[in-house]
Amino acid sequence: MRPVASSGSADLVIVANRLPVDRVTLADGTPGWRRSPGGLVSAIEPVMRANDGTWIGWPGGTESDLEPFEDEGLHLVPMTMSQDEIENFYEGFSNATLWPLYHDLVAKPEFHREWWDAYVSVNQRFAEQAAEVASEDATVWVHDYQLQLVPQMLRELRPDLRIGFYLHIPFPPAELFQQLPWRRQILEGLLGADLVGFQLPGASQNFVRLVRQRVGHKTHRDLVYLSEGRTVRAAAFPISIDAAGFEELARSEGVADRAAEIREQLGSPRKIFLGIDRLDYTKGIYARLRAFSELIAEGELDVEDAVFVQVATPSREQVEQYRILRDEIDRLVGRINGDLGRIGRPAISYMHSSFPREEMAALYRAADVMVVTPYRDGMNLVAKEYVACRYDNDGALVLSEFAGAAEELRQAWLINPYDINGMKSALLEAFRADEREVTRRMKAMRKTVAQNDVAAWADSFLAELTAVRPSHGKTVRPARRS
Ligand code: G6P
Repeated sequence: MRPVASSGSADLVIVANRLPVDRVTLADGTPGWRRSPGGLVSAIEPVMRANDGTWIGWPGGTESDLEPFEDEGLHLVPMTMSQDEIENFYEGFSNATLWPLYHDLVAKPEFHREWWDAYVSVNQRFAEQAAEVASEDATVWVHDYQLQLVPQMLRELRPDLRIGFYLHIPFPPAELFQQLPWRRQILEGLLGADLVGFQLPGASQNFVRLVRQRVGHKTHRDLVYLSEGRTVRAAAFPISIDAAGFEELARSEGVADRAAEIREQLGSPRKIFLGIDRLDYTKGIYARLRAFSELIAEGELDVEDAVFVQVATPSREQVEQYRILRDEIDRLVGRINGDLGRIGRPAISYMHSSFPREEMAALYRAADVMVVTPYRDGMNLVAKEYVACRYDNDGALVLSEFAGAAEELRQAWLINPYDINGMKSALLEAFRADEREVTRRMKAMRKTVAQNDVAAWADSFLAELTAVRPSHGKTVRPARRS
């Protein structure tokens, strides 16, 4: 790879596996784009606008004739992927090797050399695209586990750039990471960045320790000293949500009406438990539903009093582990409702679908107990969204200790998702807690979420990225917020 001259005009480039828009069919039958509901877009949009930014990503699918385009003032560059790349890079190396490896081996990661080859070549293509659109001395911000080789590849092509990398998922302890046959390449890939950001300080420490042990660089606290004289910083930047935006939505009349309607449609039970997750084996959905059903079977809860609403968003359905999980949950829900439900009173109301933000907010408003029980999760934004929507300071949150969010939301009912009896006690406690206790906890959590919103997260990452090498590169203008 030889350095290339800058030809692009973007002073800020976001590189992520996904574009912030989904391909949809419009009312007139022609293909179009719809903004995807993810939090990352709303976080980055203000700073993208202030810097005339460009977003490079994959729109899903295998279409190959897509041109760069503008969507509501954002410059978007779609990357194409062949069926082979989807299977080997996306479903394979990204989601059947790295995803389980980085989530505590909740499922067994598979190591295949042809998956790795696809990971290298797709990362190379993303790096080349970023090199093409970035202006001289621009800032490039690369996101997540699918693109860990991009920082180094991009630096080789464009040494003038300031490069940041942010990992949205956990970074595992050395004992697990070292199973990876390509561990050194991944670490070196990440070290192409000036700043490597993680959700939690523990993840950042895991990374620095691995860099010292496996690549042999000198490190001091959160700094890595490379032989070429460059310094890389690793630090934690816990991601958040657009808290004010969610609260505003939750306060809207439409959402309030819909929340009341949901309660009624569920038969106006005394209390509603709620789980909302991508259908992923890291989320602990199976154990959580079992815990709830045992409470009913044992007579601690009654289906006249309580219902569990579980929304499972379809995800990565071509990956075998995800198909197996779907069948398991389908069977479990069927069995629980068959054994414990009464006419018009299922114990579990289960939906395998994705909902727009408005419906999510209505569900958060309708729920008395929010249940978030992942075995391992980088942050878990659902927990924060629930808190943001509870503007009356009511509602109980049951939260896994192993979600990144637990480091901030200390006042939740914290549980170990592997301990079913402990989880049952916490569900009951949250169900029975008096109003004062619930309010005390929720008030404290709301303060945390309001103070650390996603705009603050993006600003602090970009400010730190500038600070790592202050004299190098163009300044990133802070977001203009409306
Ligand atoms: C997690 C990952 C993201 C990913 C998202 C949805 O939040 O951190 O990088 O985009 O899941 O998964 P998908 O495979 O559909 O992109």
